[in-house]
Amino acid sequence: SRMRIDILTLFPEIALAPLSESIIARAREAGIVEVRAHQLRDWAKDKHRRTDDYLCGGGQGMLLLPGPLFDAIEELRRPETKVILMTPQGKVFKQAIARELSQEEHLLIICGHYEGVDHRVIDELVDLELSIGDYVLTNGAIAAAVVTDAIVRLLPGALGDERSPEDESFSDPNLLEAPAYTKPADFRGLKVPDVLLSGHHAKIEEWKKAKALERTRANRPDLLDS
Ligand code: ADE
Repeated sequence: SRMRIDILTLFPEIALAPLSESIIARAREAGIVEVRAHQLRDWAKDKHRRTDDYLCGGGQGMLLLPGPLFDAIEELRRPETKVILMTPQGKVFKQAIARELSQEEHLLIICGHYEGVDHRVIDELVDLELSIGDYVLTNGAIAAAVVTDAIVRLLPGALGDERSPEDESFSDPNLLEAPAYTKPADFRGLKVPDVLLSGHHAKIEEWKKAKALERTRANRPDLLDS
């Protein structure tokens, strides 16, 4: 049955923009997934629709208040919901996590802003804290779109039948993909490697494996350690 992903953020348009074109837009139109973004400010109580405040004990920046987040999450979650918080303090998002999350019925993705969220939200309501990498974005909505894209493309039917997500980087064996070429065979004197034009499938596979290993050693030696 169709997966549902709700994104809670101060910037719903930032979260939805990358999910409104191409493959993910088609998956949504085909009913493979229902994606919705919600404006956190709609759950603010006071007349200024305040969603953040200064840190207790001092420190730079602002934190999202627990009130609007508790009310929103309690309204949007269901018994089966997995509640995820996007934060640079989270577990680093990998293809294996995308695969696991693609099996869930309902994800509710909370986007941090400024210095993050009041920790009581994390202690009481969040099942999983996720980071998309070791750098700091201005806005968790960008990270939520990244995670949503990686999950939705794994759902059955999302990529169409022409390509399966099984034989790509970060599946097993954990190697980067080999260099790839298209036409023409000679571009400004730059040649496509002969083996790829040979029609010799065993040789081509052998070449790809060697090149994948070489590329992984150069760009991602950490993948070979495990
Ligand atoms: N919010 C800001 N930076 C982030 C990151 N790297 N991952 C997830 N959420 C974030």
